Amino acid sequence: MDYSSSRPRPENGTIHPAPGRAERRRKAGRGRRKGRSRPSEWCHSMAACSFRRSIASQLSKVLDLPPENLIKAISAVPVSKKRHVADFQLSIASIAEDGSSNCLTENLQLQAQKLAERLKCDAVVSEISAGPGTVNFTINRELLAKTVLQQVLKDGSEYGVKSELFSTVPRQKAVIEFSSPNIAKKFHIGHLRSTIIGNFIANLKVALGHEVTRINYLGDWGMQFGLLGVGFQLFGNREKLKSSPLQHLFEVYVEINKAAEDEDTKKLAKDFFRRMEEHDEQTLSLWKQFRDFSIEEYIRIYERLGVHFDEYSGESFYQEKSQEVLKMLEDKGLLQKTTKGTGIVDLSEKKDLSSFSTVMRSDGTSLYITRDLAAAIDRMNKYSWDTMIYVTDKSQSNHFQHLFQILKLMGYDWAERCQHVSFGLVQGMKTRRGEVIFLEDVLNEVRSRMLQNMASAKTTKEIEDPVETAEKVGLAALIIQDFRGLLSSDYQFSWDRALQSRGDTGVFLQYTHARLHRYDEVLYRSSQDLQPKHIVSYLLTLSHLAAVAHKTLPVKGSAPQLAQARLCLFQAARSVLANGMKLLGITPVTQM
Ligand code: ARG
Repeated sequence: MDYSSSRPRPENGTIHPAPGRAERRRKAGRGRRKGRSRPSEWCHSMAACSFRRSIASQLSKVLDLPPENLIKAISAVPVSKKRHVADFQLSIASIAEDGSSNCLTENLQLQAQKLAERLKCDAVVSEISAGPGTVNFTINRELLAKTVLQQVLKDGSEYGVKSELFSTVPRQKAVIEFSSPNIAKKFHIGHLRSTIIGNFIANLKVALGHEVTRINYLGDWGMQFGLLGVGFQLFGNREKLKSSPLQHLFEVYVEINKAAEDEDTKKLAKDFFRRMEEHDEQTLSLWKQFRDFSIEEYIRIYERLGVHFDEYSGESFYQEKSQEVLKMLEDKGLLQKTTKGTGIVDLSEKKDLSSFSTVMRSDGTSLYITRDLAAAIDRMNKYSWDTMIYVTDKSQSNHFQHLFQILKLMGYDWAERCQHVSFGLVQGMKTRRGEVIFLEDVLNEVRSRMLQNMASAKTTKEIEDPVETAEKVGLAALIIQDFRGLLSSDYQFSWDRALQSRGDTGVFLQYTHARLHRYDEVLYRSSQDLQPKHIVSYLLTLSHLAAVAHKTLPVKGSAPQLAQARLCLFQAARSVLANGMKLLGITPVTQM
């Protein structure tokens, strides 16, 4: 692993994120509906922003601009393994009055030099230099270490989120829909990805003070239940349904699918589903048992992952409401009938049907997308959310695009505040037993592999509950492997790679304390694009630095004051590590 590739840095590889930040802020401001900027509260966490403040205040005098505008243009410099550049940078382009677009590069360089010459070092800033289009500031090392450590220890679990970076971001109500497996079908790795990604996004939003509703939208309706119902009557076992519903329903489903080749079974299944749609009590009561037992088991398994939901919803909730949606589409003149009798909505710009979405079967029943339309409208009525996020793999991108387009056509402007967070495919996840069918298979596999690794590692200490520890550490391995890259990238799954105990080593000790204060920008970046990898890279870097510090800065045997200071450093690092891991959905362990 190459350290430089894992360190936090902007996607374009440049080291002056200030214009990007100013841009992000503008976006955040534009989308704002509630709350407002509170400059006076910006520095409620004084120490964290005292550096930016202090730099801004000197700049403000020289440039005759309000310090608030300047603070936004000052950003932390990403860590470089090779050499220490600076701690903070001011991007000239982001403060240029005519915007960055028509400034020539040479011009910016010259302006940076001129400005740097007019600034003076003081008690906070120990070095000022000009870079390509930036003025660089190095903070007094002692002051930096002291301030950062004090801040981390004082803010505890709120370190980073209290930063002034978030003070202008309005608090919002967010609905996050994730995991959403299909009852009686396989729980594939895509559902696992959705689960851990959705959990991360929800954790992050909560940490930043947003109000979050976590919804699990189950695949709990459709023809498969006709088959399952018939299958259960033929091969079902009530005891097994109670004791291991997911496994049993899946077995029944596989069995009946084999049998469904013949026309008689197909007809029976159709009848069963028809009775469900007609609300036949007996049929529905069996379906409800499938659903209830499955949810019960899911809750137990999600608990192992540290994941919970506020609402178990599902497609079944929207049978009737989707008929209302069809009626609305008709009333608004959006529903067209094809010659085959299916209902479609024209999504093309020229209204030439070059793009459309099918929303109704020829027999008048609803489809996946119709139920999603009904669900979206229902959630708006129920939660009046500011933002709604759907987390699924990218194969459903078209589906969500169509969904949002239809909502827009129906006149729901909030469709613009719906977001599909998509992720790539994972290849090659297999357990020793073979293909992954249940979420529990993955959890058991990673736990047993981790236990084995722990047993063979010489460094493992006697621990109280090795199984639980193995589970938490194993899960951390899975989550980090999954979150290292952009969510949209596909990747090849590897147990060995995920469970490696060593990453790379070696970074300069002198950067250790300085690294800690960038956490707010890392959080900010993740909160903007909802990609966990910024936090992951940061935590990995911090871990490497802490490891180096651990070797070179002994606590034991040092003079009391020195020992105290060093302890502080490790305590701060541990605190930030714990906060970050919890956001990602990892439970920190204390022994391993
Ligand atoms: N149950 C679906 C599947 O497994 C995912 C549901 C995604 N959410 C939605 N609102 N359509 O593919």
